[in-house]
Amino acid sequence: MLIRDADKADLPAVLTIHNTNIAESTALWDTAEVDLDDRLTWFADRTAAGMPILIAEIDGEVAGYASYGQWRPKSGFRFTMENSVYVDSRFHRRGVATALLTELITRATDSGRVHAMIAAIETSNAASIVLHERFGFTTVGQLPEVGYKFGRWLDLTLMQRNFPVEP
Ligand SMILES: CC(C)(COP(=O)(O)OP(=O)(O)OC[C@H]1O[C@@H](n2cnc3c(N)ncnc32)[C@H](O)[C@@H]1OP(=O)(O)O)[C@@H](O)C(=O)NCCC(=O)NCCS
Repeated sequence: MLIRDADKADLPAVLTIHNTNIAESTALWDTAEVDLDDRLTWFADRTAAGMPILIAEIDGEVAGYASYGQWRPKSGFRFTMENSVYVDSRFHRRGVATALLTELITRATDSGRVHAMIAAIETSNAASIVLHERFGFTTVGQLPEVGYKFGRWLDLTLMQRNFPVEP
């Protein structure tokens, strides 16, 4: 498995994973699939902000990706990031998310500009909660019924890990 920075050429594969999660899961709370322009804008915004987008590549295929971006837009939040990690279901339970998060956390640490990392996880997503616990994230908040998808209310679990940073 190769973990590397994303390139624009990866975005069609990223889009497929993204839209599958919109259509079939509660990991993403969009209710309509997006198009390639949406991912191009996301890529351009993250790149311009100096935020990483990492790709896990297996046998030349995009198996998953991970990224972080500022948690909320106001400048007082500039040391707080929200992370995301998505793995193509064909590659689940093969350590792809673990490899991506390991590198993402290295990037966050090395950047010197990430003090807090937040994972906002739909509460029934045990896989993601266990994964983040393994990386030292702890549950810091529970937001009941803040989402609605597939005809039901969704709860949000907020998990957090902090890193030493000199502002
Ligand atoms: C959550 C997700 C990213 C995990 O990716 P993955 O590559 O399969 O994860 P890994 O193989 O690195 O698993 C690491 C550990 O996480 C936990 N884990 C992963 N999937 C799990 C599952 N389905 N059920 C329970 N625990 C799980 C296990 O502890 C696992 O270690 P183990 O395989 O040694 O038991 C993946 O299931 C996914 O993309 N889900 C849909 C999108 C999503 O929920 N993203 C997170 C949004 S907050």
